[in-house]
Amino acid sequence: MKSFVVTGGAGFIGSCLARRLVAGGGRVLVLDDLSAGFKRNVPSGALFRKVDLSDDRALARVRPPAKLDAVFHLAAQSSGEASFDDPRRDVAVNHLATYNLLDWSARHRCRRFVFASSMSVYGDVPAGSGRVAEGRPPAPASFYGCNKLASEATIRAFSRHAGLGCTILRLFNVYGPGQNMLNMKQGMVSIYMSYLMNGLPIRVKGSLGRSRDFVYVEDVVDAFLRGAASPRAAGRTYNVGTGVRTSVRALLRELLGAYGLRDWRRWVEVAGRTSGDVSGFASDPSSIRRELGWRPRWPLSRGIPQMKLWCDETRAIWKGGR
Ligand SMILES: NC(=O)c1ccc[n+]([C@@H]2O[C@H](COP(=O)([O-])OP(=O)(O)OC[C@H]3O[C@@H](n4cnc5c(N)ncnc54)[C@H](O)[C@@H]3O)[C@@H](O)[C@H]2O)c1
Repeated sequence: MKSFVVTGGAGFIGSCLARRLVAGGGRVLVLDDLSAGFKRNVPSGALFRKVDLSDDRALARVRPPAKLDAVFHLAAQSSGEASFDDPRRDVAVNHLATYNLLDWSARHRCRRFVFASSMSVYGDVPAGSGRVAEGRPPAPASFYGCNKLASEATIRAFSRHAGLGCTILRLFNVYGPGQNMLNMKQGMVSIYMSYLMNGLPIRVKGSLGRSRDFVYVEDVVDAFLRGAASPRAAGRTYNVGTGVRTSVRALLRELLGAYGLRDWRRWVEVAGRTSGDVSGFASDPSSIRRELGWRPRWPLSRGIPQMKLWCDETRAIWKGGR
């Protein structure tokens, strides 16, 4: 039986990954401080330990249940916008915690470490730049992006120094079942869908011409599994996005379609362009496709209806708050 640690496993992507690992017969230990996640997200069959990874002493008290095959590090404060509220805390949670976990992983002789980085390391890519490949010089525009980039550099140094096989995944705009439908600061799809779920028109802050590269959570989980399993992925950094630029306008069309709504003027309120509006860019996913055989299998036309189904099924939870 293989043994794994998933940090952030009470959150959106981490819980989905933990569920897949458990379903595949793995022994899984979830580490999460529940600052943004929910205990109910941790799949049954996984072990759970509440711990703040920025606290090295608390982490030192955690013992893995068996020799570890891989550590998946997804715990983070995961919003660029929120990183401006408390930048010092962001350094602790998004960078220091990564160092602590690397050290802990090496002490427990773990072989592989897979890290959830972000497209935010690229910063505000000018419109018309085309798809962004991993070789583009990073230029983060938020503290969140800075700390993801600092974590990447620490991971590479640690990997050379301690011989830990590390893979860095730069995730684009992830959406799907499991998103926090109460968090109105992070996740364009979940924010817009939460309006419709509550019978309200979608309030769009910013222009409809902006675009994003939306990638479905099951495809992202697939990238994590391939990253841990392939010897080729050790020491590599990959974009995890579809390579498709979807405008906000096109996303709204998908969402209204999934809810069977036709009257655009009734269901979409546009506040117009705001300062700091980022035009958006798509990933160039050629590296992960070529080296790990990863391909996104969930276009928006399939992912949005699936997410709506999940929202319908979990409606009662979101009505009751946390
Ligand atoms: N969702 C996206 O679109 C997206 C895009 C790019 C990168 N990412 C990255 O992917 C990872 C997962 O994102 P998500 O959307 O599932 O976020 P999430 O907020 O749902 O999950 C993060 C989890 O980390 C936990 N956590 C936070 N600080 C912690 C700490 N100090 N110690 C232990 N646990 C802590 C939270 O309680 C939460 O359960 C994050 O690293 C995020 O930065 C996400």
